[in-house]
Amino acid sequence: MAVSNLLLLALLCSMFAYCRGACAEPDSDTEAVAGKGFKLGCLSCKRRSEVTGTATVQWYFRGKGEADFYHIYTYNEEGPTIESDNFMDRVDWNGSKRSPDIQDASIYLLNVTFNDSGTYQCFFNRILFYDNYEYSTTVSKVVHLTVVAKATRGTASIVSEVMMYVTIIGLQVWLLIEMIYCYKKISTAGEEALREAANAEYLAIASEGKDNCAGVQVGE
Ligand SMILES: *[C@@H]1O[C@H](CO)[C@@H](O)[C@H](O)[C@H]1NC(C)=O
Ligand SMILES: *[C@@H]1O[C@H](CO)[C@@H](O)[C@H](O)[C@H]1NC(C)=O
Ligand SMILES: *[C@@H]1O[C@H](CO)[C@@H](O)[C@H](O)[C@H]1NC(C)=O
Repeated sequence: MAVSNLLLLALLCSMFAYCRGACAEPDSDTEAVAGKGFKLGCLSCKRRSEVTGTATVQWYFRGKGEADFYHIYTYNEEGPTIESDNFMDRVDWNGSKRSPDIQDASIYLLNVTFNDSGTYQCFFNRILFYDNYEYSTTVSKVVHLTVVAKATRGTASIVSEVMMYVTIIGLQVWLLIEMIYCYKKISTAGEEALREAANAEYLAIASEGKDNCAGVQVGE
């Protein structure tokens, strides 16, 4: 009962999110593999999708063990600019295309090095155009990036695999117990039937004997 209610709730929530529009804000991945490319995700949905707006994007980076953030990337009406030599020729825009109304500010790091481990922060500077005024907001998101030599599996995936085995083994044990139980029940039922049949016969003989005796007694 509780489980089905939860499922229903989850279904309704996802339908609600779907009906509200396609924009969702999933968290970025946080583990990159050295030497490969990596997409640093950063999404900020406009709360009022009917209002037109423009946004510019800045990315900042603070290396692991460093004290300060520095500016690495800008994306505005003039296009992308890489602001730091450490990232020169290594960053591509993966965000909203052909629209000044940016909601996806993801960037793609090419050829990730261990020095890219650290904290990334993206800022949306957004201006919303209402009839009589403009409204500017700043939204920021943080991504903690770890660079590893080889891809490790996410904990969620390991946990779900273990759960799958536990479930399968559990079901099989349950099936086995059920089979043993049924087998025992059937065999006792069989024995009982035999015993009952024997009892019935004995009783029949006994009562016959009794009848005879009674007959004898009555006859006397
Ligand atoms: C992001 O950009 C990289 C490099 O330009 C490209 O290989 C990759 O397919 C892009 N990914 C997405 C999701 O747009
Ligand atoms: C990636 O970086 C390493 C070391 O920084 C370099 O040796 C290698 O050539 C680079 N690979 C590409 C495809 O740029
Ligand atoms: C990483 O940082 C160290 C120390 O700042 C530097 O010596 C090294 O050349 C850097 N490596 C790369 C691949 O940028």
